Amino acid sequence: MELYPQDFSITRQDRERLNGHAGKVVWFTGLSASGKSTLANALETELHRRGKRTFLLDGDNIRQGLNSDLGFSESDRAENIRRVAEVSKLMSDAGLIVLTAFISPFRRDRALARQLICGGGGRFCEVYVDTPLETCEARDPKGLYKKARAGTLPGMTGIHSPYEIPENPDIVVHTTHQSIEMAVRTLLKKL
Ligand code: ADX
Repeated sequence: MELYPQDFSITRQDRERLNGHAGKVVWFTGLSASGKSTLANALETELHRRGKRTFLLDGDNIRQGLNSDLGFSESDRAENIRRVAEVSKLMSDAGLIVLTAFISPFRRDRALARQLICGGGGRFCEVYVDTPLETCEARDPKGLYKKARAGTLPGMTGIHSPYEIPENPDIVVHTTHQSIEMAVRTLLKKL
């Protein structure tokens, strides 16, 4: 396959100047029901209120469209995260603050996402939503942990499939002893 990258006139810098802020990716990771989507939603609401251009990509939604062909095997999860990283890169190149809420359980996939999006630069912020499995399981808003324990849902993260805790996240959020409002304030200070 012979491909030739094209250069266009309007750069990321041009778009960022127009928007009045840098494009970046805020990557939430954590167990199902850890609070990723709730936090990302609350953060986006506040950023939007402050006039920032944002977009939120969420596992349960993206898996009904772009990634509806993917399941929960290790390789499908890797492909899920790869596509989300590519889309996030495009959107952040367009000057948006992209918030992603995916379990993204594997260190390797998160590292690849970081590398792809910013090549080691500062445009990728990994937020570990550090909610213990017991709490996620007690919340169980979709009844998935119950099904996994009953043996009717295979490969549930935290039960039958691993969640690899981030070794060096940019930000850690504890949802058990911090309100959503407090967590959003912390995030806004560190972003
Ligand atoms: S990821 O592991 O590939 O990053 P993703 O965030 O896209 O996962 O999707 C997770 C969501 O899919 C969960 O919040 C849950 O609603 C649903 N889900 C269905 N089956 C599973 C499973 N076996 N493990 C984890 N989540 C599942």
